[in-house]
Amino acid sequence: MASASSIAAAIASKTKTKKKHFVAQKVKLFRASDPLLSVLMWGVNHSINELSHVQIPIMLMPDDFKAYSKIKVDNHLFNKENMPSHFKFKEYCPLVFRNLRERFSIDDQDFLNSLTRSSPMNSEAQGRSGARFHTSFDKRYVIKTISSEDVAEMHNILKKYHQFIVECHGNTLLPQFLGMYRLTVDGDETYMIVTRNVFSHRLSVYKKYDLKGSTVAREASDKEKAKELPTYKDNDFINDGQKIYIDGENKKMFLEKLRKDVEVCNYSFLLWLCFLLSTQSSFFLNLYLKLMDYSLLVGIHDVERAEQEEVESEDNEAEEEGESDGGGIGTPPDSPSNTLDSTKPLSPGEFDPAIDVYAIKSNDSAPRKEIYFMAIIDILQHYDAKKKAAHAAKTVKHGAGAEISTVNPEQYSKRFYDFITTILS
Ligand SMILES: *[C@@H]1O[C@H](CO)[C@@H](O)[C@H](O)[C@H]1NC(C)=O
Ligand SMILES: *[C@@H]1O[C@H](CO)[C@@H](O)[C@H](O)[C@H]1NC(C)=O
Repeated sequence: MASASSIAAAIASKTKTKKKHFVAQKVKLFRASDPLLSVLMWGVNHSINELSHVQIPIMLMPDDFKAYSKIKVDNHLFNKENMPSHFKFKEYCPLVFRNLRERFSIDDQDFLNSLTRSSPMNSEAQGRSGARFHTSFDKRYVIKTISSEDVAEMHNILKKYHQFIVECHGNTLLPQFLGMYRLTVDGDETYMIVTRNVFSHRLSVYKKYDLKGSTVAREASDKEKAKELPTYKDNDFINDGQKIYIDGENKKMFLEKLRKDVEVCNYSFLLWLCFLLSTQSSFFLNLYLKLMDYSLLVGIHDVERAEQEEVESEDNEAEEEGESDGGGIGTPPDSPSNTLDSTKPLSPGEFDPAIDVYAIKSNDSAPRKEIYFMAIIDILQHYDAKKKAAHAAKTVKHGAGAEISTVNPEQYSKRFYDFITTILS
């Protein structure tokens, strides 16, 4: 295991050529403006360090999907200014999430560095209102505050989700779930889940959409539009005449992935049979009933625009930057530590597909050179009594034939898939 100081040194030496530095320092204390984030950093450090001493099992056992680890810290006097003196940290299904990280090619030490080297930052870049979002300081991971119902839901789907990730070799547009925690500070419990960032850690997105394949009440509000990076919706996409220019091969690969992904979110005949035969019916019922109302998150990076902004901000900062010669620095493809790649010089619009796993380049006939980031988000939605009531109400209001976003999961996945197919052509 690399020591913190050697990693810090490695980062520091790389940071010299980077324009926007974060202050490289030895991690001695976890400092965050929000005590909750200090606890998260402490907890992730604790958990990854503990896990590094736990042998990797040949296979996961059913109990691993119910397991958790818990630690209670009292009188944490050592770092009093930054940490609450009493807190609890609980990690859910640690071995399962470690296995998932591995399947998503995320090295635990890199994961630890991303989440603890500097405090996670507030972010409203993704998802819907209500939930709180942070990104890791290096923007590789998104940390979402979730409800206890979401935690229960996650437990319901985890086995099936894991099985699917094994089958598709981690090649999916579904969220990459990487860790789930409960933090207790002053008796208040906060649940957090970490996923891979859909957007790039370095290529900025200037426009984003949240698409569901429904057109009823699917446009950004004026309040939303006033934001720096509004989340536009289906009707905005259509009215903007927005196009996703990708070539045939990328499109085929993308749609193939999408088809498998929504299928697993969906009700299948086999599951239905299991449901009928099984005594564990509620488990399957959960699988069938709940996975819907997800969205395709689309982010667009405009290469020229980003270059322009880069030039402007450089002018403003009047700062000299080291040369990016691009040649000869090649990192071995199987480098165990991909955290350091972020400072590797890349030309504008270029990306490392091992890190920006969702990125797709625009095709040759696109009017502008763009990079698209597209993946499925918000799969932990509940198709429950409340939703059924909403469905009934909307049916009354819009008529039975109206396209509404509260349908059953099978209809939902079909409509979703069909809509995404049309926007790519
Ligand atoms: C991170 O965990 C290790 C091992 O438990 C511990 O030695 C180290 O002090 C922790 N780091 C911080 C900043 O608390
Ligand atoms: C590029 O994308 C557009 C929009 O999807 C499509 O109409 C066009 O045929 C594509 N061109 C190439 C060369 O793939």
